Amino acid sequence: MSAVVIVGVQWGDEGKGKVVDLLTAEADAVVRFGGGANAGHTLVVDGEKVVFHLVPSGALHTRPRCILGAGMVIDPRVLIDELAEMRRRGLLSEGRVTISERAHLVLPVHFLVDELRERGPGAIGTTKRGIGPCYQDRAARRGVRIGDLDDPAHLKARVAASLAGWRPEIEALGGTPPNPVQVADELLALAEELRPWIGDAEDAVHTAREAGERILLEGAQGTMLDIDHGTYPFVTSSSVTAGGACTGSGLGPGHIDRVVGISKAYTTRVGEGPFPTELHGEAGEALRRAGHEFGATTGRPRRCGWLDGPVLRHAVRVNGLTELALTKLDVLQGLETLKVCVAYELDGARLERPPSRGLERVTPIYEELPGWTEDVAGARTLDALPETARAYIRRIEELAGVPVTLVSVGPDREETIRLRDVWA
Ligand code: GDP
Ligand code: IMO
Ligand code: MG
Repeated sequence: MSAVVIVGVQWGDEGKGKVVDLLTAEADAVVRFGGGANAGHTLVVDGEKVVFHLVPSGALHTRPRCILGAGMVIDPRVLIDELAEMRRRGLLSEGRVTISERAHLVLPVHFLVDELRERGPGAIGTTKRGIGPCYQDRAARRGVRIGDLDDPAHLKARVAASLAGWRPEIEALGGTPPNPVQVADELLALAEELRPWIGDAEDAVHTAREAGERILLEGAQGTMLDIDHGTYPFVTSSSVTAGGACTGSGLGPGHIDRVVGISKAYTTRVGEGPFPTELHGEAGEALRRAGHEFGATTGRPRRCGWLDGPVLRHAVRVNGLTELALTKLDVLQGLETLKVCVAYELDGARLERPPSRGLERVTPIYEELPGWTEDVAGARTLDALPETARAYIRRIEELAGVPVTLVSVGPDREETIRLRDVWA
């Protein structure tokens, strides 16, 4: 019996999709536990690239069940497209997908509010996928859930309640609220396609667990975007850390066996907010070019910088990480010297972890390590890496205080060094 959680340790886009796809080959069920179509998880199989926003990144395998958990916010149109993609590939067999009745629906009004707010001075660079307003409706207890699609009269009342709640803000921002009857009718039309897949996802997860099956819990975003533990207010609106894997799937903390943190070998961020190790100018451009750092959801250029040790330490703590998977090591090839931030300085004090406030004012304290010129993409064992790359990995393990158990050296499934079996 095993439940393994996968979370991002930085600001998202760490390569969770690739790692989940790889590990799903050995799993019986894969559960997305939070977020919505703000996520963009890239899978590369035999050179072909596929990006999923909602369905778990195990969807391209034939066997494991794909579960969309209660913690998710679901844009029905995006989900229908992704289910169609699975069907097209012959991967949508009966019972393959379960969408939690408890997950929330992203409504047109959520997109509208997200868009209107992002035009203003308080913009935080969201993905404009309606995520914040949808989670806001959930917390205000006026959200519309997937299960509400079952009862047209009830659905209409829920949609009307949500819209009534948003009307004052929309009007103040100069927008026009959508028509509730039209919205409900559109949802009911879309419901036809989703209905076969809606079910008791939490029961499906527990049944799998009780049968001794292997369950992979796939996180979205990254620890520094977490609503509580991230760079608030420049965060997403949900619990993306390992605690969210429990609330978002219905498992209890005691059911989790391992928590794997995915970290790039450097750091990226999309949107506004503090980023202590950010590289400006040509150095940042070079990393962006080498790593093809453009958002999988919005296409925006990602801000790039050196690896941030305090962020790693923070992520190890708040997720209870048992280990790290290090991705994109190949991207650092050719850099003469690599810098790693080992701590920050703020107002004369040395900080080992990000402060709750003032991250935009810290000065990173860097250590320099020698780089490598060899191509590492073909390496399948640690021994096949240059000694300087191995030393870089060892230093990351020291800084984080947990072992690196997987190293990714390219986007493809095959381009991976496995150092330990996550299921053992
Ligand atoms: P996610 O949101 O964490 O799933 O990550 P994204 O898919 O948004 O972004 C990660 C990008 O890096 C994708 O384009 C992946 O194909 C790519 N990628 C993942 N691992 C590696 C790797 O080890 N090397 C290289 N060069 N690219 C990788
Ligand atoms: P994956 O799962 C990178 C960022 C947005 C913005 C902030 C709030 O692919 O790693 P939101 O639309 O969620 O209200 O935006 O969070 N963000 C992500 N950045 N990867 C993601 O997902 C992200 N999901 C949200 O850029 O800064
Ligand atoms: Mg992504």
